Amino acid sequence: MTLLVRPKKLVFCNNQWRIWKTTLAFHCATEFASRGYKTVLVDLDPQCNLTLQCLGGDYFEPNLLSGSVGDIGTVLAKRLEWVGDVDLTVPFVRLAQENLFLVPGSLTLSRYESMLSDSSFNDAASGNRRGYLDTSAIDRYLNFRGIEDGVDIFVIDSSPSLGALNRVLLLGADFFVVPMMADAFSVQGVENLGLQLERWKRNWLMTARALARDPKSGIDNSEVLQGECLFLGYIVNNFRDSCKMMKSEVHFEHCSEPYWGTVNEGRRNGRGVRILQESLNVYSGKTIQRQDEWRQKIPLKVKEFLSEKHCKNGLVNTSWPTPLGNIQDSGQLTAISMELCKAVQFLTPQDDPKLNLVGTRELAEKARVEFESLGDNLLGLVLRY
Ligand SMILES: Nc1ncnc2c1ncn2[C@@H]1O[C@H](COP(=O)(O)OP(=O)(O)OP(=O)(O)O)[C@@H](O)[C@H]1O
Ligand SMILES: [Mg+2]
Repeated sequence: MTLLVRPKKLVFCNNQWRIWKTTLAFHCATEFASRGYKTVLVDLDPQCNLTLQCLGGDYFEPNLLSGSVGDIGTVLAKRLEWVGDVDLTVPFVRLAQENLFLVPGSLTLSRYESMLSDSSFNDAASGNRRGYLDTSAIDRYLNFRGIEDGVDIFVIDSSPSLGALNRVLLLGADFFVVPMMADAFSVQGVENLGLQLERWKRNWLMTARALARDPKSGIDNSEVLQGECLFLGYIVNNFRDSCKMMKSEVHFEHCSEPYWGTVNEGRRNGRGVRILQESLNVYSGKTIQRQDEWRQKIPLKVKEFLSEKHCKNGLVNTSWPTPLGNIQDSGQLTAISMELCKAVQFLTPQDDPKLNLVGTRELAEKARVEFESLGDNLLGLVLRY
């Protein structure tokens, strides 16, 4: 195992919803952890889907909502009221898999985002220290705990927006990777993200970062977001019918009627009861022609809006021609994975007898190969850059 010199922060993002940002962040993190890297998942989407995926509804509701478990809201609480700074003592939550930890999400992130857009960015742009402390709050927590706890990689999940929260997390990150699908929205998302991030970086460099360089500013470098995140590449998801995926039929044990909605929505409404049936896996195996057309457009869009704007050295030429990974539709494995809070590639027949079924077994084997290769590609880049 090659060692990392310092904790690296890797964000999964795209300006497009429901393209498996959260699912991919979780699965890639489990892959890193399985290779011995101390990996911390960070849920920075106020929807908290990553937290649900990691801990499940049974744990989530009683523990997190009671305040008995520290989450990102606990970290930010004093900063939010301007009565103190970030709480650097909040520990990571240890997950079942070895080397894998979580900073749970919180709805408080929405309030933090309002604060950032109401005042923090303007304060920082005019050299006011409060603006630096606000904008770097999460980054400082991760940097401090990362070194203190010997973390190798932070894997950060983000919301699909281009709001102030994603602005701070991308300005603080070392790397970002972009999940997408072969459709018009994902391709548009790439353009939006590339352009907006370019504006954020330029603006930050010319205002807050420039002002902080003046020794008379009194601003410590650790309080200033670096604004230099690099684009590592993109991951293409191959499911055939996003509408079916978004509104799949999920039947919960205690419900008399089948529940229509996503597994996570179901968890919230169904309070973590066991999923009995999920009819996601309904694809014919044929690629829809329109998707092939969009698939062909992806590399050049990525090149223009991400590689040429957000890469350096060798990455400019390697990050766009092919994706870092092509991920299949995992069908019912996804539901099992969410129910057990375990990554698809590590599911075994002991976890669920469905893994003995011929089609499902092949699906699991394919997922193992795909995530292993995606893990290799991502780790290779994180280690090199
Ligand atoms: N490989 C897969 N095969 C089948 N279903 C999947 C797969 N990956 C994700 N899903 C399902 O697709 C849905 C959306 O995934 P996910 O929550 O990861 O997307 P997202 O981009 O994070 O969404 P959001 O924009 O809401 O944050 C989830 O219900 C998840 O269970
Ligand atoms: Mg998500």
